[in-house]
Amino acid sequence: MKDRFEGKVVIVTGAASGIGEATARRFSSEGAKVVLVDREGKALEKVAGEFPSDRTLTLVADVSDSRSVDDMVASAVKRFGRLDVLVNNAGVHVAGDPAEITDEQWRKVMATDADGVFFGCRAAIPHLEKTRGSIVNTASVSGTGGDWEMSPYNAAKGAVVNLTRALAMDLGKKGIRVNAVCPTLTRTGMTEDMMEDKDLLAKFAERIPLGRVCEPREVAVVIAFLASEDASFMTGANVAVDGGVSASNGQPPQ
Ligand SMILES: NC(=O)c1ccc[n+]([C@@H]2O[C@H](COP(=O)([O-])OP(=O)(O)OC[C@H]3O[C@@H](n4cnc5c(N)ncnc54)[C@H](O)[C@@H]3O)[C@@H](O)[C@H]2O)c1
Repeated sequence: MKDRFEGKVVIVTGAASGIGEATARRFSSEGAKVVLVDREGKALEKVAGEFPSDRTLTLVADVSDSRSVDDMVASAVKRFGRLDVLVNNAGVHVAGDPAEITDEQWRKVMATDADGVFFGCRAAIPHLEKTRGSIVNTASVSGTGGDWEMSPYNAAKGAVVNLTRALAMDLGKKGIRVNAVCPTLTRTGMTEDMMEDKDLLAKFAERIPLGRVCEPREVAVVIAFLASEDASFMTGANVAVDGGVSASNGQPPQ
């Protein structure tokens, strides 16, 4: 397993924290040249300090801006000469009563979580076609079902789930595989406040068959698998990393 990505070039967006950071570490530990991307430059530099400097590049970019994403892909290819894997992972979350969600909140979530994934895929296609590479998107269980008071996030992640399928159809003949992971509640920067709410965690533990929330590394290993040759006949899959949440039909525990 150690050298599955030796000589491969991998871009990970949202790499300054949480699932993206764990994913970048995983690819690097398996020999990849890793391009860590985030809009938060300081946090990114801190994380990147622990990576081997000769095969690591950091880029500050905003995935909701298509020019910034085009530059991101061009800079990665300029530095390392090729692109094998794109992980569209950067994301934001807004919760609230749908009657009170503002235009700005709606646009921010859609622009980052849905537009950003499409912009990344579009920019990467010509490069991935050359390497017969692959794309892994970080969707969510929130993209395959609804949550209470998370309508913008549910809409954006639902878009990622079906975009993953659509692009798998269009890019299969080019030799590019496109898959996604659908994690449940995971211990990251995005969910920091929730992790301090013991009552809420107990409710999640009751609802998740494996009885606990997910750790970022548990998502990272699935992303790495989907990006690797081990998943050579997988495309268009939205893989649940959810401790069994999606196995339920919604009835309460007995
Ligand atoms: N934490 C969870 O419970 C959970 C569950 C399912 C899916 N996800 C998804 O996992 C992905 C990673 O989130 P996380 O939980 O690790 O959160 P996180 O907040 O720890 O990390 C997200 C990173 O994305 C970066 N980012 C946000 N907007 C950006 C933009 N426009 N351009 C570039 N970078 C940007 C942030 O600066 C941050 O470093 C997201 O897509 C999120 O929706 C998270």
